[in-house]
Amino acid sequence: MKKMLIAGNWKMNTTPKEAKVLAQKILYGLESLGKTHSKVLLCPPYTNLFAVKEVINNSEIELGGQNCFYELQGAYTGEISPLMLLELGCSYVIIGHSERRTYFVETDDVINKKVSSAVVAGLKVILCIGETLEQRKNNDTFAILEYQLNQDLHLLEIKDIKNVIIAYEPVWAIGTGISASVEQIAEAHDWIREFFRNKYGEIANEMIILYGGSLSDNNCFEILNIKNVNGGLIGGASLDPTKFLNIIKTAEDLLSQ
Ligand code: PGA
Repeated sequence: MKKMLIAGNWKMNTTPKEAKVLAQKILYGLESLGKTHSKVLLCPPYTNLFAVKEVINNSEIELGGQNCFYELQGAYTGEISPLMLLELGCSYVIIGHSERRTYFVETDDVINKKVSSAVVAGLKVILCIGETLEQRKNNDTFAILEYQLNQDLHLLEIKDIKNVIIAYEPVWAIGTGISASVEQIAEAHDWIREFFRNKYGEIANEMIILYGGSLSDNNCFEILNIKNVNGGLIGGASLDPTKFLNIIKTAEDLLSQ
């Protein structure tokens, strides 16, 4: 059966109280679906991890951070380490999101260190990659994806690749309401799978490759149905429990076909 991960990236949204309510709605909705074959992951802001963990504690829902630093401890004011995420019950962390690359000037060098440190500490990493609109227009999409994957995974030991998930997120599709087309997504995901096959061999077949960028309940059927798409990293629609649950339900329908 195809692997499917439906991940909600709440970004800088929800207070702890609001996060609890949202997590509860998602949990109740999931319980009414019965046993699911897709994995469901919630990535609230750091300050809400504890509150969300309390809600989802005895469920199958997983918890993730939206970022972390590469050092495990020390004088790094304002930063959070992989060990802190682990102790709060996180099993995943998102690294290299385009908003971090753009607003917080995270370089591929920093992302590379973060990926390897988080994986060594015991987290699964969702590494985000993707081209800007200008890069796509210049036909540089695959050169950019190749560059990011080579740079961002440089320090990772081959044995650890099983703990890396790739999220293909074209920058121009994030938060814009305009998702990439089925053809564009299929082409990029095929390319990413092939990149890993060439570099790491057959383990590439097991890797989870997510799509992100204006994924919602109105386009998820066609996107999740693409061969090399193993789920989604969902921003806006993950803040609406009805939409998020509809996406999970669609994933379930596709898996049971
Ligand atoms: P979006 O965000 O679904 O709001 O486009 C996706 C993401 O940034 O991961």
